[in-house]
Amino acid sequence: MDLQTRVVSAESIAKVLTPRTRAVVVVHLYGYVADMPAIAELCRQRGLILIEDAAQSIGAELDGQKSGSFGDMAIFSFHSHKNLTTLGEGGMLYVRDPRMAALIPALRHNGHCAYAFERPDYWKPAMGNVDMPILDGDFLQPNNYCLGEVECALGAKLLERIDTINDEKRARALRFIDALADVPELEFHRVATRRHNYHLLAARMVTGPEQRDRFLRRMHDDKGIKCVVQYIPLNRYDYYRRLGLDKADCPNADTFFDSMISFPFQHWLREEDLDYMLQSTREVLASLR
Ligand SMILES: Cc1ncc(COP(=O)(O)O)c(C=O)c1O
Repeated sequence: MDLQTRVVSAESIAKVLTPRTRAVVVVHLYGYVADMPAIAELCRQRGLILIEDAAQSIGAELDGQKSGSFGDMAIFSFHSHKNLTTLGEGGMLYVRDPRMAALIPALRHNGHCAYAFERPDYWKPAMGNVDMPILDGDFLQPNNYCLGEVECALGAKLLERIDTINDEKRARALRFIDALADVPELEFHRVATRRHNYHLLAARMVTGPEQRDRFLRRMHDDKGIKCVVQYIPLNRYDYYRRLGLDKADCPNADTFFDSMISFPFQHWLREEDLDYMLQSTREVLASLR
């Protein structure tokens, strides 16, 4: 990851590719679209599948093209915290290859798919087959992640407003960032275009992890503002360590995680809330100097 943009680049990906690499997953972290034309070109040259994690970047775009439409597949999240939500939970999958896309309805529905043969009685041997289609010799594990009609209806309607929602979030993020431009301790990623939807408002405490921790504690204890840290690098979770997946060498992700701050930034925050958070940030930082 790049310390300033907080996402991967074609150069950082190229450095870690091995002959065993089959796919590249790009996370548009915090809602900022990575340099997808360069990354897509790299994947094309190397014959790699390109997957976009657009969970946080719905509606964000690069040169007029929306995140999630650059690669072979993309996932979107409509969890209640996201810029577009479907009443709590929900998500969307984009699959470019029609052969693969044809598998998805069965995947999402416990593996149920049609039998390949003619049946004189449609109920024999059963309603549907659970023998998942095989693609290039691989089995797919079915799930049951169905989004209900009501959630779909809401999501489809909100999709019409996504640019407005994102523009509003970006305007508020920029107001916050610009108001703290003279504060040397905090480094934000300032993007004034639709390339960033500011799903989250993240900053780095350039004075280091200890100052970051002091700041979080004072903001919480004295001001009642609960900033959080998002996200612990996967290789540092005990769970992944136990699985032996702790060998990753990601110095920038480590540096960023250890000194990052995610300010509360829900769409429904009132302007007064934002002003209070700004004022509190200034006061707490001043008291820590
Ligand atoms: C970057 C990223 N990827 C994936 C997910 C998972 O999305 P969901 O909670 O809808 O399964 C999330 C959200 O929680 C996310 O922020």
